[in-house]
Amino acid sequence: MRRPAALAAGLGLALALAGCGSGDGDQGPELTVSGAYMPQPVSDSMAAGFLTITNDGSAQDRLTSVTSDIAGTVTVHETVDSAMREVKNLAVPADGSIVFRSGGNHLMFEKLKQKPKQGDTVTVVLHFADTDPVTVEMPVKAATYTPAAHGH
Ligand code: CU
Repeated sequence: MRRPAALAAGLGLALALAGCGSGDGDQGPELTVSGAYMPQPVSDSMAAGFLTITNDGSAQDRLTSVTSDIAGTVTVHETVDSAMREVKNLAVPADGSIVFRSGGNHLMFEKLKQKPKQGDTVTVVLHFADTDPVTVEMPVKAATYTPAAHGH
């Protein structure tokens, strides 16, 4: 019994040290999600969602997939020259952020199981390459809602 116990204690110590971030560049990403909202969809089958993912860590992470109870599939789209296209994953740069906003990156909810209405909250789970899944409560706003601009 002694050997497994000693091994577990050693692993715990290693994890604790890694969590401190010694400045050797082995500190992981530190993600926070803000400003999430979904404009009330006009379509019965499709909705868009917007949010900002901020990374205060010193390592890049990647958004690899998105899931939600209300949709059969959720995909990540980017807009290039007014045309949107699906992207398989999206980098969240170290000490940076990615912004999903109207006319730019957006989440696309397809095969809706119910049609979200203003005042509802949609639960969305963001899956990352390194960080554990992040659950986001996304409020449903008016179809014409746009968030207040934080400068340009
Ligand atoms: Cu799209």
